Amino acid sequence: MAGRLEGKVAFITGAARGQGRAHAVRMASEGADIIAVDIAGKLPNCVPYDPATEEDLAETVRLVEETGRRIFASVVDTRDLDALRKAVDDAVAELGRLDVIVANAGVAAPQPWNEITPESFRDVMDINVTGTWNTVMAGADKIIDGGRGGSIILISSAAGAKMQPFMVHYTASKHAVTGLTRAFAAELGKHSIRVNSVHPGPVNTAMGSGDMVDAVGRAMETNPQLAHVLTPFLPDWVAEPEEIADAVCWLASDESRKVTAAQIRVDQGSTQY
Ligand SMILES: NC(=O)c1ccc[n+]([C@@H]2O[C@H](COP(=O)([O-])OP(=O)(O)OC[C@H]3O[C@@H](n4cnc5c(N)ncnc54)[C@H](O)[C@@H]3O)[C@@H](O)[C@H]2O)c1
Repeated sequence: MAGRLEGKVAFITGAARGQGRAHAVRMASEGADIIAVDIAGKLPNCVPYDPATEEDLAETVRLVEETGRRIFASVVDTRDLDALRKAVDDAVAELGRLDVIVANAGVAAPQPWNEITPESFRDVMDINVTGTWNTVMAGADKIIDGGRGGSIILISSAAGAKMQPFMVHYTASKHAVTGLTRAFAAELGKHSIRVNSVHPGPVNTAMGSGDMVDAVGRAMETNPQLAHVLTPFLPDWVAEPEEIADAVCWLASDESRKVTAAQIRVDQGSTQY
Protein backbone atom coordinates (compact mmCIF):
# COMPACT_ATOMS: atom_id res chain seq x y z
CA MET A 1 0.00 0.00 0.00
CA ALA A 2 1.30 3.48 -0.87
CA GLY A 3 2.40 5.62 2.05
CA ARG A 4 0.67 8.84 2.96
CA LEU A 5 3.61 10.89 1.59
CA GLU A 6 4.43 8.74 -1.43
CA GLY A 7 6.46 10.66 -4.02
CA LYS A 8 6.86 13.77 -1.86
CA VAL A 9 10.05 15.45 -0.69
CA ALA A 10 10.41 16.91 2.82
CA PHE A 11 13.06 19.39 4.02
CA ILE A 12 13.70 19.08 7.78
CA THR A 13 16.03 21.17 9.97
CA GLY A 14 17.56 19.91 13.20
CA ALA A 15 17.35 16.38 11.81
CA ALA A 16 20.46 14.87 13.44
CA ARG A 17 18.58 13.55 16.46
CA GLY A 18 15.49 13.89 18.65
CA GLN A 19 12.27 15.10 17.07
CA GLY A 20 13.90 16.09 13.76
CA ARG A 21 15.21 12.56 13.29
CA ALA A 22 11.79 11.12 14.23
CA HIS A 23 10.13 13.35 11.60
CA ALA A 24 12.65 12.28 8.95
CA VAL A 25 12.27 8.56 9.65
CA ARG A 26 8.48 8.77 9.95
CA MET A 27 8.06 10.72 6.71
CA ALA A 28 10.44 8.39 4.87
CA SER A 29 8.47 5.39 6.10
CA GLU A 30 5.39 7.07 4.59
CA GLY A 31 7.14 7.37 1.21
CA ALA A 32 8.90 10.76 1.28
CA ASP A 33 12.48 11.51 0.28
CA ILE A 34 14.27 13.70 2.81
CA ILE A 35 16.47 16.80 2.79
CA ALA A 36 18.04 16.95 6.26
CA VAL A 37 20.19 19.67 7.79
CA ASP A 38 21.66 20.11 11.26
CA ILE A 39 24.38 22.24 12.84
CA ALA A 40 25.72 18.96 14.30
CA GLY A 41 28.07 20.82 16.58
CA LYS A 42 28.52 23.64 19.07
CA LEU A 43 25.43 25.40 20.39
CA PRO A 44 25.39 28.84 22.07
CA ASN A 45 27.02 29.17 25.50
CA CYS A 46 23.66 29.54 27.31
CA VAL A 47 22.58 26.03 26.18
CA PRO A 48 23.35 23.55 28.99
CA TYR A 49 22.73 20.24 27.16
CA ASP A 50 25.02 18.24 24.86
CA PRO A 51 25.27 19.27 21.19
CA ALA A 52 24.39 16.89 18.35
CA THR A 53 27.26 15.38 16.37
CA GLU A 54 27.97 14.49 12.76
CA GLU A 55 27.63 10.84 13.85
CA ASP A 56 24.07 11.63 14.97
CA LEU A 57 23.29 13.04 11.52
CA ALA A 58 24.87 9.97 9.89
CA GLU A 59 22.59 7.77 12.01
CA THR A 60 19.55 9.68 10.71
CA VAL A 61 20.82 9.02 7.18
CA ARG A 62 21.16 5.32 7.97
CA LEU A 63 17.67 5.07 9.46
CA VAL A 64 16.05 6.88 6.52
CA GLU A 65 17.93 4.75 3.99
CA GLU A 66 16.75 1.67 5.86
CA THR A 67 13.19 2.62 4.84
CA GLY A 68 14.26 2.54 1.18
CA ARG A 69 13.92 6.29 0.66
CA ARG A 70 16.64 8.74 -0.40
CA ILE A 71 18.13 11.39 1.90
CA PHE A 72 20.42 14.37 1.30
CA ALA A 73 21.98 15.41 4.60
CA SER A 74 24.32 18.32 5.26
CA VAL A 75 25.83 20.19 8.17
CA VAL A 76 24.25 23.65 8.03
CA ASP A 77 23.53 26.30 10.65
CA THR A 78 19.98 27.60 10.10
CA ARG A 79 21.27 31.10 10.89
CA ASP A 80 23.09 30.96 7.53
CA LEU A 81 20.46 31.59 4.85
CA ASP A 82 22.87 31.23 1.91
CA ALA A 83 24.04 27.83 3.13
CA LEU A 84 20.46 26.70 3.72
CA ARG A 85 19.44 27.80 0.22
CA LYS A 86 22.39 25.89 -1.25
CA ALA A 87 21.50 22.72 0.68
CA VAL A 88 17.91 22.89 -0.57
CA ASP A 89 18.83 23.87 -4.16
CA ASP A 90 21.37 21.05 -4.49
CA ALA A 91 19.02 18.42 -3.09
CA VAL A 92 15.99 19.56 -5.09
CA ALA A 93 18.13 19.44 -8.25
CA GLU A 94 18.54 15.70 -7.53
CA LEU A 95 15.15 14.88 -6.03
CA GLY A 96 13.14 16.98 -8.47
CA ARG A 97 10.66 18.69 -6.16
CA LEU A 98 9.84 19.98 -2.69
CA ASP A 99 6.51 19.52 -0.92
CA VAL A 100 7.05 19.81 2.82
CA ILE A 101 9.19 21.98 5.12
CA VAL A 102 9.62 21.21 8.82
CA ALA A 103 11.41 24.04 10.64
CA ASN A 104 12.38 22.03 13.70
CA ALA A 105 15.89 23.23 14.68
CA GLY A 106 15.81 25.10 17.96
CA VAL A 107 17.58 25.65 21.26
CA ALA A 108 16.38 26.12 24.84
CA ALA A 109 18.15 27.63 27.84
CA PRO A 110 16.71 27.70 31.37
CA GLN A 111 17.70 30.99 33.01
CA PRO A 112 15.86 33.18 35.54
CA TRP A 113 14.73 36.44 33.90
CA ASN A 114 17.47 38.54 35.48
CA GLU A 115 20.28 36.16 34.47
CA ILE A 116 19.54 36.28 30.73
CA THR A 117 22.35 38.23 29.09
CA PRO A 118 21.98 40.24 25.86
CA GLU A 119 24.13 37.56 24.20
CA SER A 120 21.92 34.64 25.28
CA PHE A 121 18.73 36.53 24.36
CA ARG A 122 20.16 37.22 20.90
CA ASP A 123 21.41 33.63 20.45
CA VAL A 124 18.02 32.07 21.24
CA MET A 125 16.14 34.55 19.03
CA ASP A 126 18.65 34.11 16.18
CA ILE A 127 18.25 30.33 16.06
CA ASN A 128 14.58 29.95 16.99
CA VAL A 129 13.17 32.92 15.07
CA THR A 130 15.59 34.00 12.33
CA GLY A 131 16.59 30.37 11.72
CA THR A 132 12.93 29.42 11.32
CA TRP A 133 12.32 32.34 8.93
CA ASN A 134 15.45 31.36 6.98
CA THR A 135 14.18 27.79 6.69
CA VAL A 136 10.91 28.88 5.12
CA MET A 137 12.70 31.36 2.85
CA ALA A 138 15.12 28.65 1.66
CA GLY A 139 12.34 26.29 0.57
CA ALA A 140 9.00 28.03 -0.06
CA ASP A 141 9.89 29.08 -3.64
CA LYS A 142 10.65 25.48 -4.48
CA ILE A 143 7.21 24.36 -3.29
CA ILE A 144 5.60 27.16 -5.31
CA ASP A 145 7.62 26.13 -8.40
CA GLY A 146 6.08 22.64 -8.19
CA GLY A 147 2.59 24.09 -8.58
CA ARG A 148 1.10 21.31 -6.42
CA GLY A 149 0.83 23.19 -3.12
CA GLY A 150 2.45 21.86 0.02
CA SER A 151 2.73 21.96 3.78
CA ILE A 152 5.03 23.97 6.03
CA ILE A 153 5.25 22.98 9.69
CA LEU A 154 6.95 25.26 12.19
CA ILE A 155 7.91 23.66 15.51
CA SER A 156 6.97 25.93 18.37
CA SER A 157 6.41 24.68 21.93
CA ALA A 158 4.11 24.76 24.92
CA ALA A 159 6.18 27.90 25.55
CA GLY A 160 4.65 29.36 22.38
CA ALA A 161 1.08 28.54 23.46
CA LYS A 162 1.26 29.47 27.17
CA MET A 163 4.78 30.18 28.42
CA GLN A 164 7.72 28.39 29.96
CA PRO A 165 8.95 29.82 33.25
CA PHE A 166 12.64 30.74 33.42
CA MET A 167 12.83 31.03 29.64
CA VAL A 168 11.84 34.59 28.68
CA HIS A 169 13.91 34.35 25.48
CA TYR A 170 12.63 30.88 24.56
CA THR A 171 9.02 31.86 25.30
CA ALA A 172 9.34 35.02 23.19
CA SER A 173 10.96 33.07 20.35
CA LYS A 174 8.31 30.34 20.30
CA HIS A 175 5.50 32.94 20.31
CA ALA A 176 7.29 34.55 17.36
CA VAL A 177 7.13 31.19 15.58
CA THR A 178 3.33 31.36 15.95
CA GLY A 179 3.39 34.81 14.34
CA LEU A 180 5.53 33.52 11.48
CA THR A 181 3.03 30.69 11.02
CA ARG A 182 0.02 32.97 10.73
CA ALA A 183 1.75 35.52 8.51
CA PHE A 184 3.20 32.94 6.10
CA ALA A 185 -0.13 31.04 6.06
CA ALA A 186 -1.91 34.17 4.87
CA GLU A 187 0.44 34.96 1.98
CA LEU A 188 1.30 31.41 0.88
CA GLY A 189 -2.33 30.27 0.95
CA LYS A 190 -2.88 31.41 -2.63
CA HIS A 191 -0.30 28.80 -3.68
CA SER A 192 -2.22 26.10 -1.75
CA ILE A 193 0.61 25.98 0.75
CA ARG A 194 -0.59 25.36 4.29
CA VAL A 195 1.42 26.66 7.24
CA ASN A 196 0.82 25.37 10.78
CA SER A 197 2.69 25.36 14.07
CA VAL A 198 3.14 22.38 16.37
CA HIS A 199 3.41 22.94 20.12
CA PRO A 200 4.92 19.99 21.98
CA GLY A 201 5.01 19.78 25.76
CA PRO A 202 8.11 18.10 27.23
CA VAL A 203 9.62 15.57 24.82
CA ASN A 204 12.13 12.85 25.67
CA THR A 205 15.16 14.07 23.65
CA ALA A 206 18.78 15.07 24.25
CA MET A 207 17.50 18.56 25.07
CA GLY A 208 17.23 17.07 28.56
CA SER A 209 20.85 15.85 28.59
CA GLY A 210 24.06 17.29 30.05
CA ASP A 211 23.45 19.99 32.67
CA MET A 212 19.84 20.70 31.57
CA VAL A 213 18.02 19.11 34.53
CA ASP A 214 20.31 20.84 37.06
CA ALA A 215 19.93 24.17 35.26
CA VAL A 216 16.11 23.87 35.35
CA GLY A 217 16.30 22.94 39.05
CA ARG A 218 18.51 25.93 39.88
CA ALA A 219 16.21 28.31 38.01
CA MET A 220 13.14 26.81 39.73
CA GLU A 221 14.62 27.54 43.17
CA THR A 222 14.32 31.27 42.42
CA ASN A 223 10.49 30.95 42.22
CA PRO A 224 9.14 27.49 43.22
CA GLN A 225 5.52 28.68 42.84
CA LEU A 226 5.97 28.35 39.07
CA ALA A 227 6.90 24.66 39.22
CA HIS A 228 3.45 23.39 38.19
CA VAL A 229 2.29 25.90 35.57
CA LEU A 230 2.55 23.28 32.81
CA THR A 231 0.76 20.43 34.63
CA PRO A 232 -0.81 18.05 32.05
CA PHE A 233 -4.40 16.74 32.05
CA LEU A 234 -3.22 13.32 30.88
CA PRO A 235 -1.25 11.04 33.23
CA ASP A 236 2.02 11.22 31.28
CA TRP A 237 4.18 14.35 31.50
CA VAL A 238 6.61 13.57 28.70
CA ALA A 239 6.02 12.58 25.05
CA GLU A 240 8.28 10.49 22.83
CA PRO A 241 9.62 12.13 19.63
CA GLU A 242 7.61 9.62 17.54
CA GLU A 243 4.39 10.93 19.12
CA ILE A 244 5.20 14.44 17.89
CA ALA A 245 6.10 12.95 14.49
CA ASP A 246 2.55 11.52 14.29
CA ALA A 247 1.14 15.06 14.35
CA VAL A 248 3.80 16.46 12.02
CA CYS A 249 3.25 13.65 9.51
CA TRP A 250 -0.51 14.28 9.58
CA LEU A 251 0.09 17.98 8.89
CA ALA A 252 2.44 17.05 6.04
CA SER A 253 -0.14 14.71 4.50
CA ASP A 254 -3.26 15.50 2.48
CA GLU A 255 -5.37 14.31 5.42
CA SER A 256 -4.99 17.80 6.90
CA ARG A 257 -5.65 19.58 3.57
CA LYS A 258 -8.12 22.07 5.07
CA VAL A 259 -5.92 22.91 8.08
CA THR A 260 -3.81 26.06 7.89
CA ALA A 261 -2.70 28.81 10.31
CA ALA A 262 -3.52 26.41 13.15
CA GLN A 263 -1.67 25.87 16.40
CA ILE A 264 -1.58 22.11 16.97
CA ARG A 265 -0.84 21.42 20.64
CA VAL A 266 0.65 18.02 21.39
CA ASP A 267 1.13 18.73 25.07
CA GLN A 268 -1.11 16.37 27.11
CA GLY A 269 -3.30 19.42 27.85
CA SER A 270 -0.58 21.23 29.78
CA THR A 271 -1.12 24.66 28.21
CA GLN A 272 -4.88 24.82 28.73
CA TYR A 273 -5.04 26.58 32.09
N1 LIG B 1 12.42 18.52 23.93
C1 LIG B 1 11.41 19.24 24.37
O1 LIG B 1 10.99 19.09 25.52
C2 LIG B 1 10.73 20.25 23.47
C3 LIG B 1 9.47 20.73 23.82
C4 LIG B 1 8.81 21.63 23.00
C5 LIG B 1 9.41 22.05 21.83
N2 LIG B 1 10.65 21.59 21.50
C6 LIG B 1 11.23 22.05 20.23
O2 LIG B 1 11.35 20.95 19.36
C7 LIG B 1 12.41 21.18 18.45
C8 LIG B 1 13.33 19.97 18.41
O3 LIG B 1 13.94 19.81 19.69
P1 LIG B 1 14.41 18.39 20.28
O4 LIG B 1 13.63 18.16 21.49
O5 LIG B 1 14.42 17.36 19.23
O6 LIG B 1 15.90 18.77 20.77
P2 LIG B 1 17.34 18.32 20.22
O7 LIG B 1 18.32 19.25 20.86
O8 LIG B 1 17.52 16.87 20.43
O9 LIG B 1 17.25 18.57 18.65
C9 LIG B 1 17.39 19.83 18.07
C10 LIG B 1 18.31 19.71 16.89
O10 LIG B 1 18.44 21.02 16.29
C11 LIG B 1 19.79 21.22 15.96
N3 LIG B 1 20.08 22.65 15.89
C12 LIG B 1 20.10 23.54 16.91
N4 LIG B 1 20.44 24.74 16.47
C13 LIG B 1 20.64 24.63 15.14
C14 LIG B 1 21.00 25.54 14.12
N5 LIG B 1 21.25 26.82 14.38
N6 LIG B 1 21.09 25.08 12.85
C15 LIG B 1 20.86 23.76 12.55
N7 LIG B 1 20.51 22.86 13.49
C16 LIG B 1 20.41 23.30 14.77
C17 LIG B 1 20.58 20.52 17.05
O11 LIG B 1 21.91 20.23 16.65
C18 LIG B 1 19.74 19.27 17.29
O12 LIG B 1 20.15 18.19 16.49
C19 LIG B 1 13.09 22.47 18.91
O13 LIG B 1 12.62 23.55 18.11
C20 LIG B 1 12.60 22.63 20.33
O14 LIG B 1 12.62 23.97 20.74
C21 LIG B 1 11.32 20.69 22.28
